[in-house]
Amino acid sequence: MTELRTPKAPLATNALAALIQPSATMAVTARAKQLKAEGKAVLGFSAGEPDFRPPEPVVRAVQEYISAKAVKYAPVSGLPELRDAAAADLEKFHGRSFQRNEIMVSCGAKHCLANLMLVTLSPGDEVVISAPYWVSYPAQVELGGGTPVIVNASKEHGLRVQPEALERVLSPRTKYVLLNSPSNPTGVGYTAEQIRALGEVVVRKAPQAWFLCDDIYRHLTYDGFEQASAYRVLSDLTEQFVFADGVSKSHAMTGFRIGFLAAPKEVIAAAGRIQGQMTSGATTTSQIAAIAALTDPACAAAMDEMRAAFARRRALMLEGLGAIPGVSVPKPDGAFYVFADVSQHVGEGTQFVDDLALAKWLLDEKLVATVPGTAFGAPGNLRISYATDDASLREGVSRLHEAFASFPTARG
Ligand SMILES: Cc1ncc(COP(=O)(O)O)c(C=O)c1O
Repeated sequence: MTELRTPKAPLATNALAALIQPSATMAVTARAKQLKAEGKAVLGFSAGEPDFRPPEPVVRAVQEYISAKAVKYAPVSGLPELRDAAAADLEKFHGRSFQRNEIMVSCGAKHCLANLMLVTLSPGDEVVISAPYWVSYPAQVELGGGTPVIVNASKEHGLRVQPEALERVLSPRTKYVLLNSPSNPTGVGYTAEQIRALGEVVVRKAPQAWFLCDDIYRHLTYDGFEQASAYRVLSDLTEQFVFADGVSKSHAMTGFRIGFLAAPKEVIAAAGRIQGQMTSGATTTSQIAAIAALTDPACAAAMDEMRAAFARRRALMLEGLGAIPGVSVPKPDGAFYVFADVSQHVGEGTQFVDDLALAKWLLDEKLVATVPGTAFGAPGNLRISYATDDASLREGVSRLHEAFASFPTARG
């Protein structure tokens, strides 16, 4: 052995690596997969993605493209056809036009939001996030060097943040007020009136703030609830909006990793510079797929079918879970989650210290994978996804019934 060989020095990770915790939803999914691999009949209620295939035109577009073409780099900010298709789709929803240079395509709405935080936040900037929140929001704000400011959306108000509560956390440092409707993890949607009431408070108390609308679930709504565009509701008061959107949930295309960000052109240009050095943009084949998703009218039938299935399953879950003593389930307006309040079954005087312990027990003992509310800033709850087939849902509900009935110590 040569004398020049180094001794083995550790490759240390840095402060940024220490800042970011792994996503709790991913952790549960990984544990559930591991149990499945061991041959256990795990029922996965933790998924954050539709259990459907993408619409046929999407599949066909990719197959034809790959058979006919060399698959090359796409422009960093997205194929022009996709940016234009996204602009047209957003225009339909928001009722305002978008130029191509106000739209950037990235690897999912998650990547859009992360890019936005990286190029717009500075130390001291605050982003107001209502809890229960999607797990990635606070982490992304921290990645961007900003400060997440959490405002609780209480159960008495249907898990919707109230204007008075919002007013208390707004400040001259508020950079964004995040609006995610319908919401992950609760499925709760805000009506036009509710958005108006929140918007008026923001414009009055923090006129410098921008609305950051994460509209990824806007197509998935039930029982006649139609998601209102915050822009349409508030554009007489302000033009300060950024939109994160995409095809992941609406078209069952999570694995394609395509999202789009709509923001002022200077922000899009800056995000493009970051993306150009990080990933060179989203994959070309996925962008071809997304163009088909947004432009082929034949996709509508598949989307309707998926929505109808989710509506049926939501009813099944509400009925089944609603009958479990000590568990209450607010009725969601959209997405594919219910957010069950299990607070009577956790904490002092019960068998579980908290919802994390309960979720772990349900997975290990009953083979039902749920996500503890703590992951979403709302301890004492479980997020239960119904993006799985009806038979598994029925079986899962029955296992949950049995489990909760076996807890001797629920507080009344
Ligand atoms: C609220 C919310 N926003 C954004 C995303 C990210 O979507 P994508 O898969 O397009 O990155 C998710 C995915 O779970 C989500 O729940």
